[in-house]
Amino acid sequence: MKKYLVIGNPIEHSLSPKLHNFWMKKNNIDGIYEKKEINNSEFQNLILQIREKKLSGINVTVPFKNEIISYLDVLSNEAKKTQSVNTIYLKENKIFGHNTDIDGFELSIKHINYDLNNKRVLILGAGGVVPSIIEALIRLKVSQIFVTNRTKEKAKKLENIFKNLTIIDWGNTIDVDVIINATSLGLKKNDKINLDLSNLGKNKFFYDVIYNPKQTDFLESAKKLGNKTENGKMMFIYQALAAFKIWHQKEPIIDEETIKLLD
Ligand code: ATR
Repeated sequence: MKKYLVIGNPIEHSLSPKLHNFWMKKNNIDGIYEKKEINNSEFQNLILQIREKKLSGINVTVPFKNEIISYLDVLSNEAKKTQSVNTIYLKENKIFGHNTDIDGFELSIKHINYDLNNKRVLILGAGGVVPSIIEALIRLKVSQIFVTNRTKEKAKKLENIFKNLTIIDWGNTIDVDVIINATSLGLKKNDKINLDLSNLGKNKFFYDVIYNPKQTDFLESAKKLGNKTENGKMMFIYQALAAFKIWHQKEPIIDEETIKLLD
């Protein structure tokens, strides 16, 4: 039986095992996918288990997507560019690291048929997932990307990877078409982002990377003001789909049952 893991800290909340085990069953794959809370002293042993084929694949989540890189043999271009790895596997006796969050974001946008071409986008946050979102936005041919983060230096660091970003002070808003919350604000029930959204006008698109809770205060306020909203659930499903394809060379189906599984 093949064994897969998602590693992170904390990991209790992860829905990856539920989704991957469901898809493996549907595709008659003899495998099991589990979650493991780790600290970074365990990287070496886990990677050894991939090398020795005791583990067939690892998903990496917060806060290890960058730190794991030094333990791998080969990075995909996507992982290299974003310095972020969420999917690990063995190929020709080498440990590969790939980033499926870029595909996850891009496919979630295509899933709802939203056209990002030539749109102006504001990203809130500069944490681990942001380089992946920026890379996807570039692929989707947005016209301009603005980034704002409480700790401005962290947003500034993104300029080392991506040219043509505009960094704005935290607390300021700007007239854009799309606003993406990539901060962790909203994960807790009473979290509020201290930004005045009312001067942005209607018919904007608000995207929250958070999918649990389904509707953060950010999305709820945006909806009340008459805007289009989307949470991070499909991004989560599509990043898992891309990892599944790498590991099993099969494309799982995303149907109502799959989507409901994560409610
Ligand atoms: P990391 O920063 O370790 O990569 P993350 O979960 O990927 O962690 O990112 C958290 C994001 O939410 C960051 O952009 C963080 O801002 P800072 O860089 O200033 O820490 C943002 N964030 C978390 N709590 C916040 C708060 N109370 N107000 C504003 N931004 C917050």
